Amino acid sequence: MAIKSCLVIGGSGRGGGMIKMLKEQFNSRMEIVGVVDVKQDVLEHQGKALGLGKNSLFTDFNEACAAVKADFCAIATPPQFHSPATVAAVENGMPVICEKPIADTLEAAKTMMEAVKKAALPCAIIQNYRYAANKQELVRIREEERLGRLQHIVGRYACDYRRYESWGKSWRHDMDFALLFEGSVHHFDMMRFLSGGDCETLMGLGWNPEWSSFKHHSSGFYLMRMDNGIHTCYEGNSSAAGISNCWHKEYYRAEFEAGSVEIAGGNQMTIHRVGQETEVYEAPAISRTGHEYLFDEFLNWLDGRTPSATRIEDNIKSFAMVIAAMETTLDGQPKQIADYLAG
Ligand SMILES: NC(=O)c1ccc[n+]([C@@H]2O[C@H](COP(=O)([O-])OP(=O)(O)OC[C@H]3O[C@@H](n4cnc5c(N)ncnc54)[C@H](O)[C@@H]3O)[C@@H](O)[C@H]2O)c1
Repeated sequence: MAIKSCLVIGGSGRGGGMIKMLKEQFNSRMEIVGVVDVKQDVLEHQGKALGLGKNSLFTDFNEACAAVKADFCAIATPPQFHSPATVAAVENGMPVICEKPIADTLEAAKTMMEAVKKAALPCAIIQNYRYAANKQELVRIREEERLGRLQHIVGRYACDYRRYESWGKSWRHDMDFALLFEGSVHHFDMMRFLSGGDCETLMGLGWNPEWSSFKHHSSGFYLMRMDNGIHTCYEGNSSAAGISNCWHKEYYRAEFEAGSVEIAGGNQMTIHRVGQETEVYEAPAISRTGHEYLFDEFLNWLDGRTPSATRIEDNIKSFAMVIAAMETTLDGQPKQIADYLAG
């Protein structure tokens, strides 16, 4: 296959990590031909790292998309720019792989999805946590009914972000509903992945501890009923001072007919059965994890193979859960996810 060209929008933070990973892991399949960032120092740094001249470095994604007709575009800006950057990319003929969350509002997410549909181009959303050995093994346990049927899943995410700017740059501490848009979107997506169902009803509570480093709600409890009858329950805490279950170490407990499965950090699977010794084993390794899996899957899609599992048309079901969680936090009423996906 010919080497694919890529325009990257957002060149530091996650975008910086993505550029490094793409250079190291996908050198033989793709090359970065342009970078967009509003910060000049980021452009200078990436220009040097990638050997790109001034004509390939941009501060405006609209201008960049019109000038660089790459084979695809990778987006890693803060959420409010995902939708306009994707619209600019697809209108200029470029498929998109974009960081989560899809957008900052439901309207922006729908605008983005409509533009993708109209252009009839691939658009994948990055949900890297699905591609970890322990999550894949838990899905196999459910699918193969090794412990019978699944009843419910409890999930816990807890990071010690009590210091300002300990969770990346300041915008994440200053925005509304940082837990939901920046954190829980991964965990709600994981509840769909692990349960094998889409969320039907969501209700819950959110708050901001007085001592948090956030300006708005940063902790919460949410309950979900999935459309296959499985129930899920989620605790999110951005001011964890004791037991932490931060990124890659989130705790999930799945309650099956014949036992409970626990996973957290590492790839250890722990299975409890009443009256029996606890079974502990390592989940079988997977050949690609996280972002690497997603880019491999996306490049294969561009080559005519299977569409990404987290393509926008599917991942909007995880994003709708964020919007529902935001609204139930504000009005205390249970939300039907179908209401958000309609229209
Ligand atoms: N999947 C993951 O594990 C993961 C981890 C961290 C962040 N993220 C996601 O990645 C995205 C970026 O987060 P981050 O932590 O890297 O943020 P960041 O602020 O550290 O980096 C964003 C970059 O985008 C640039 N930028 C801002 N506005 C821009 C615009 N209009 N056009 C072009 N560039 C612009 C900034 O200058 C900065 O270099 C968010 O959507 C976030 O949720 C995902």
